[in-house]
Amino acid sequence: MAPILEIAREFNLRVFEDACEALGSRYRGQLAGTFGDAAAFAFYPNKQMTTAEGGMIVTNDAQIATLCRSLRNQGRDDRSAWLRHIALGYNYRLSDLHCALGLAQLKRIGELLSSRARVAAEYSRAFAQTPGITLPQEFPEATRSWFVYVIQLQGTSTARQRDSLIAGLRARGIACQAYFPPIHRQPYFKEIALSRTPSLPQTDLAAERCLALPFFSKMTSEQITEVCAAVRELLSESADDPGSPQSQLSASAG
Ligand SMILES: Cc1ncc(COP(=O)(O)O)c(C=O)c1O
Repeated sequence: MAPILEIAREFNLRVFEDACEALGSRYRGQLAGTFGDAAAFAFYPNKQMTTAEGGMIVTNDAQIATLCRSLRNQGRDDRSAWLRHIALGYNYRLSDLHCALGLAQLKRIGELLSSRARVAAEYSRAFAQTPGITLPQEFPEATRSWFVYVIQLQGTSTARQRDSLIAGLRARGIACQAYFPPIHRQPYFKEIALSRTPSLPQTDLAAERCLALPFFSKMTSEQITEVCAAVRELLSESADDPGSPQSQLSASAG
């Protein structure tokens, strides 16, 4: 955030934080969502807390707050009659029922965040001596709030090897995902913004080797052990098979 805020100051830009995955995260001790002019949080069920759908914008700027209230409310004038529309807006209202769910979740946010941290720590401990994979990194200036637990395959591994690992896990009833595919590979983005796919080799490598494992606050130690054992077994099975490209993975990791 420090360099982003510096650039914004230099060029007189406004900063809108996408804090959708970062509820409870801190950078240099300060909470994500409190650096910029405004910030967005998302409350889909896979997030740290949920309202079943929807999200929230936070801001200390009265003008932005008024604009957001109007935009979510079909462009109504926030300070006047219900049927007065001063702009083109949307129906982005979060219903009272969704808000009630969110308020109840917010009361237990400390517990929700620490349960996720416990699951992440157990995964990292269980995977500590596993060759062939890279675990999520710690960042010295940040305290992470856990949204997903993503491992990376190492060495010369390819998307095909990662996908065969996914298939093996799914065959054992373990849900997992290649999460995320990068935006420059999305058909719509290519269509609207790019005349040709840009060369982003590091982004592509990260996307080809990433694997998001099952992750939720109530995940038990037994479930974590089962996932880790399955990953290890599948990695060593493919490493034992000399015809398999995965064998190169452990050779290079070793
Ligand atoms: C970083 C980030 N931004 C934005 C979103 C979108 O949130 P929503 O679908 O609630 O608009 C997500 C959802 O996962 C996200 O992870």
